[in-house]
Amino acid sequence: MRIFSGVQPTGRKHIGNYIGAFEQYVAGQALGEAIYCVVDLHATTVAYDPATLRRDLYDLVAVLLAAGIEPERSILFRQSDVAEHTELQWLLMSATAYGELTRMTQFKDKSAQQEFISAGIFAYPVLMAADILLYQTGQVPVGDDQRQHLELTRDVAQRFNSRFGETFVVPEGTYPEVGARIMDLQNPERKMSTTGGSPQGTVYVTDDPEVIRRKFRGAVTDSGREIRHGADKPGVSNLLEILAAVRRSSIAALEQEFEGSGYGDLKLAVGEAVAAHLAPVRERYALLRADEQGLEQTLAAGAQRARAIASETMRAVRAAMGVGPAGPDER
Ligand code: TYM
Repeated sequence: MRIFSGVQPTGRKHIGNYIGAFEQYVAGQALGEAIYCVVDLHATTVAYDPATLRRDLYDLVAVLLAAGIEPERSILFRQSDVAEHTELQWLLMSATAYGELTRMTQFKDKSAQQEFISAGIFAYPVLMAADILLYQTGQVPVGDDQRQHLELTRDVAQRFNSRFGETFVVPEGTYPEVGARIMDLQNPERKMSTTGGSPQGTVYVTDDPEVIRRKFRGAVTDSGREIRHGADKPGVSNLLEILAAVRRSSIAALEQEFEGSGYGDLKLAVGEAVAAHLAPVRERYALLRADEQGLEQTLAAGAQRARAIASETMRAVRAAMGVGPAGPDER
């Protein structure tokens, strides 16, 4: 079974990415052939600075390796190193409806923040579908905010298969049981995010342990005193989700443990648990990040392996669509 996921090299990665996605990536390595892609082409669809993009990309690759992605076991590569991604994106555009893309909530949210709305940001979900379908992916570990993109990918694959013949595996999204949508600590009605989040409410993977504890101490909680998970308690629910994810325990067990405790106790406990959880990651990160050449070598080796799979899929796609010369068995 093949597992594929992608992550944008923009800004610093936070515990939403870590809990929602990266921990699933690491676990995925034991379940099948895992392929992880740093999607730099996606990052060019909004206003950005080229030098910062490259720096952020190395930061991200070092975080992924520090989190436990093993490049000998999995394929870790940079999207722009494998040209098949953009070729497949173009071909899939014809199997994607304009109306579908206009309904994407991430397109609506992200384009509202831009002065210049690029055609790239509109076509973004098609590049994401290409990323996934290129590798005949069975499972896509992602956070909750990618659900709609995953559904679109499935629809495009099914439409392509019925129009041109069985070509793509139709992938399934997989979402973590707890922590699929980590919220901003200062504004628990909004997801934690690289763009548009509050600085004190966003906990970065490479934050100093003391900074992590401080951000949790300052987390916004709710009215009342009871520590329980529920729609009327977004702040407390978010803290419980984070603690359940890092301790690998259930929300119910935590509700029992914290019965009678105050919000302050919960905030301290979560801050401590997250700081301890991320401390070794931060140490490994510092070592890995210092060796950019080593990171490039890892990416180059990953790209070579990715290309071998991607080019095979593209042969089938071109043949199915009648693009390029006929293959030996079609003449
Ligand atoms: P990106 O780079 O925004 O986020 C990477 C992963 O982190 C998850 N995530 C979260 N999970 C829980 N709580 C949060 N607050 C939170 N914020 C982010 C995301 O769900 C994601 O899994 N379009 C994708 C990148 C992409 C991709 C792909 C993903 C491109 N091609 C192919 C899967 C397969 C994105 O922008 O993720």
